[in-house]
Amino acid sequence: MKRMLSGIKPSGQLTLGNYIGALRNFVNYQDEYEMFVFIANLHCITVYQDPQELRTNLRDAATLYLACGLDPKKATIFLQSDIKEHAQLGFILACNSYQGELNRMTQYKEKIAKKEKSITVGLYTYPVLMASDIIIYDCDFVPVGEDQKQHVELARDIAERFNNNYGQTFNIPQPLIPQVGARIMDLVDPTKKMSKSDDNAKGCIYLLDDLKIARKKIMSAVTDNEANVHYDKTKQPGISNLLTIMSSLTTEPIASIEARYQGIGYGTFKKEVADVVCVTLASIQDRYHQIKASDILDQVLADGAKKVSAIASKKLHEVQVKIGIEIK
Ligand code: TYM
Repeated sequence: MKRMLSGIKPSGQLTLGNYIGALRNFVNYQDEYEMFVFIANLHCITVYQDPQELRTNLRDAATLYLACGLDPKKATIFLQSDIKEHAQLGFILACNSYQGELNRMTQYKEKIAKKEKSITVGLYTYPVLMASDIIIYDCDFVPVGEDQKQHVELARDIAERFNNNYGQTFNIPQPLIPQVGARIMDLVDPTKKMSKSDDNAKGCIYLLDDLKIARKKIMSAVTDNEANVHYDKTKQPGISNLLTIMSSLTTEPIASIEARYQGIGYGTFKKEVADVVCVTLASIQDRYHQIKASDILDQVLADGAKKVSAIASKKLHEVQVKIGIEIK
């Protein structure tokens, strides 16, 4: 069975973008692959987090993994920081990565372009830790949304370089990007990605949003004057985004939705998108509340950590021997 691994960084509440671009795909893949899914809590602290809020977001995210359908009998779910080897290998990989590579990372460049103050060293080296998360388990596939593809490609480059320098050590993973829904856009500004850390919560649907609020966000999503439900990312980014959301959640092809809406106004279309989103959120939220009340989360995370820690420590040992830092 091929191995698949992915993670989410709950630096805020999980969003519909996280669900469509990543989480629901983890669920779909869990029968076919050996699936490792973790909570990237170390990645969260690359930007200051209020500790109390962070704890809540981490527990909520792990609960949402289960609520969205990850089954701990099939998928191994764990907390990144429980596996100390990620950070240790991360430092070793940092010594096998170049500043020029990190300077080219789009997410980092965007922060620089926005002239954001106090960019931490952790934020800069974050893709190296992500490479460690991935290659420590020799996974074959990494299902992610489009924005993380570049980071998975860096992980491949680092793994290949390490193999060339020290002999075959790491499997080279492949990113898996969904065909539809790899980049869900902000509802207020559909030229930018829907993001949990955004200042304007109106553009972002959170999985735990009150359904009335979620509906209102969709109904007020920015559209255009074309009066045509048609997919054209350049001319009609808002409508294209709503089409993508609907198609992703229903599996109805975009062309078929367009055909159904010929000559029908945006108001009716938005209402149907809101209905579809609310049905999805309602079922996730139902399960979220049940799981929260059941108190199974700590056991799931403990079992997950136990399972993967044996793999991670074996790989780290192999690496340390290869690079010559073990002296026994
Ligand atoms: P993060 O937390 O930003 O996003 C988690 C996953 O959700 C996807 N995603 C989206 N997909 C479609 N539309 C959107 N608007 C949208 N927003 C987010 C992301 O592409 C991602 O797949 N660095 C990673 C976490 C991480 C990781 C890893 C992932 C750490 N180590 C190892 C895979 C493997 C991150 O910040 O994702």
